[in-house]
Amino acid sequence: MCGIVGYVGPKRAVDVVLEGLRRLEYRGYDSAGVAVVENATVDVERRAGKLSNLEKALSEREQMTGTTGIGHTRWATHGAPTDRNAHPHVDCTGKVAVVHNGTIENFAELRHALEVGGHQLHSETDTEAVAHMVEERYDGDLAAAVRSVCKELGGSFVLVVAHADHPDLVVGARRNLPLVAGVGEGENFLASDVTAFIGHTRNARVVDQDQIVELRSDSITVTDLEGTVVDGEQYHVDWDTDAAEKGGYEFFMLKEIEEQPAAVRETLAGRLDSKGLLRLDELALSDEDIRDLEQVVVVACGSSYHSAMVGKYAIERWTRIATSVEIASEFRYRDPVVNRRTLLVAVSQSGETADTLEALRHARQQRAWSLAVTNTVGSTVARESDAALYTRGGPEVAVASTKAVMTQMTAMYLVGLYLAQVRGTRDPDEVRAHLRDLQEIPHLIEETLSRMEVVRELARDLSSEERVLFIGRHVGYPMALEGALKLKELAYVSAEGFPAGEIKHGPIALVEQGTPVVVLAPRHALTSKLVTNVQELRARGARTIVVTTDGDDAMEPYADHLIRIPDTKSLLSPLLTMVPMQVFAAEFAKARGLDVDQPRNLAKSVTVE
Ligand code: F6R
Repeated sequence: MCGIVGYVGPKRAVDVVLEGLRRLEYRGYDSAGVAVVENATVDVERRAGKLSNLEKALSEREQMTGTTGIGHTRWATHGAPTDRNAHPHVDCTGKVAVVHNGTIENFAELRHALEVGGHQLHSETDTEAVAHMVEERYDGDLAAAVRSVCKELGGSFVLVVAHADHPDLVVGARRNLPLVAGVGEGENFLASDVTAFIGHTRNARVVDQDQIVELRSDSITVTDLEGTVVDGEQYHVDWDTDAAEKGGYEFFMLKEIEEQPAAVRETLAGRLDSKGLLRLDELALSDEDIRDLEQVVVVACGSSYHSAMVGKYAIERWTRIATSVEIASEFRYRDPVVNRRTLLVAVSQSGETADTLEALRHARQQRAWSLAVTNTVGSTVARESDAALYTRGGPEVAVASTKAVMTQMTAMYLVGLYLAQVRGTRDPDEVRAHLRDLQEIPHLIEETLSRMEVVRELARDLSSEERVLFIGRHVGYPMALEGALKLKELAYVSAEGFPAGEIKHGPIALVEQGTPVVVLAPRHALTSKLVTNVQELRARGARTIVVTTDGDDAMEPYADHLIRIPDTKSLLSPLLTMVPMQVFAAEFAKARGLDVDQPRNLAKSVTVE
């Protein structure tokens, strides 16, 4: 939540910072702002609303020419999304400019003390307090002032600070939220995410917990809060600008849907040994520890929670280890039973979701073994887990998750199969057969994608509906939840997903003449039960849209609209049924004239609890 950029180098900072903000806008789009150091001042421009408002304001004023700058794109927490609350915030002298991601929990006390001390604060934000605190502590050494301020801040934050006296310096600080340095030649970058500077450098340096970074054009110095210089881990990003661009698509989401076959191939790549069995060294758990496991607990939020649910079905089926899936924001508050024979799997695209991170920390305190299933190398969830299984989906820019969910599910199948392989609950031939089925999936997703025109037409046809229900059984159920979540977040429709067997216990009351009901019915032993549920709905006037498998005619008589997916094992079917759900939601939102990539009120990386 909130995107941050800092730049020091020979180029016009405003251009580099704006380019970075454009790539980070998925993190929040309530307001945007930049500050550039020039002629011993900091020049600040900021606007409520999307980045385009800021760009327009900048085009109508004198150019900013300085080569050191910071920028911010906001997802509002403290204070409404107005010009006044937009970052950067400045101190009383106007010499210190600060951008911030996170929430400063002791902000009320800090603000009170500043006001008593004579400072004038103009916004409702917690961030502005930081600018005034830096002003108080500054004696010529900006990094020392930021270090001293950080010691007093509660909560979580990434701060990036510029000062009028320092035309070749930006200072960053990090606690609990992501900050990464981009290592260039004669120029350096700071950002919430490498996508911001991928057009300039693919070399990145990790900034760790409670570290302060001094960024100059020719150096990056990282210290701890006491000022001791620390070594940093550097890494090379293995994708380039093309991956972070729309590449001719109208929306990133449409591009990311099409990228799914390649993304799943990447998730599977190199994870099989010469005998066709799985090699998941990343798990870093000994065979003995795997055999000793008593339970698996998977924590996640939103769409990642739906991937986790699919993972539960697979893990339990193949390993017979009791597996529970928990909404991360609820997990730690109910005192869950977790111990050292628990494998805690944290599923998170961003690896920065605060709820998931806190659930992970709680489980680790109870001595659980932890595994991150994440798309983001070096993310906090990955770094704080005992092991990380990277999903390798590539950058996902659209706020609504598609290829990340697809690759998470693939990774969860791999976890299930690996545990089964080590514990011997499935014989090697069966594991090999499941892996062969998984390797077929990218091709089957391609085939599914080629059939989507019928789904787009249907979405356009239904786009004036205000309520859509989704039902499914077994692994169709998490996909019903995912279909409903996609539609509600993109098209602002009241969409609900239910286990098909549950509708008669209440939700069926929502059905009236013509209510669209999407039925996730891939081939499965439970299809006959689903047929009964669908008949119950049709008897009450539901208009049924049935997603089913090639060659399975059981549902056909009860479908007002039929969407066919290729045949695969029913346990793997979510990797195919999800595709029409994504396409349906995107087209529905497009038909309503909505911004598919940036739905209202949302941000991609949810770093507040
Ligand atoms: C929905 C969506 C969200 C995320 C959720 C968790 O399309 O993207 O529901 O799945 O915010 O995010 P991560 O996976 O980054 O922890």
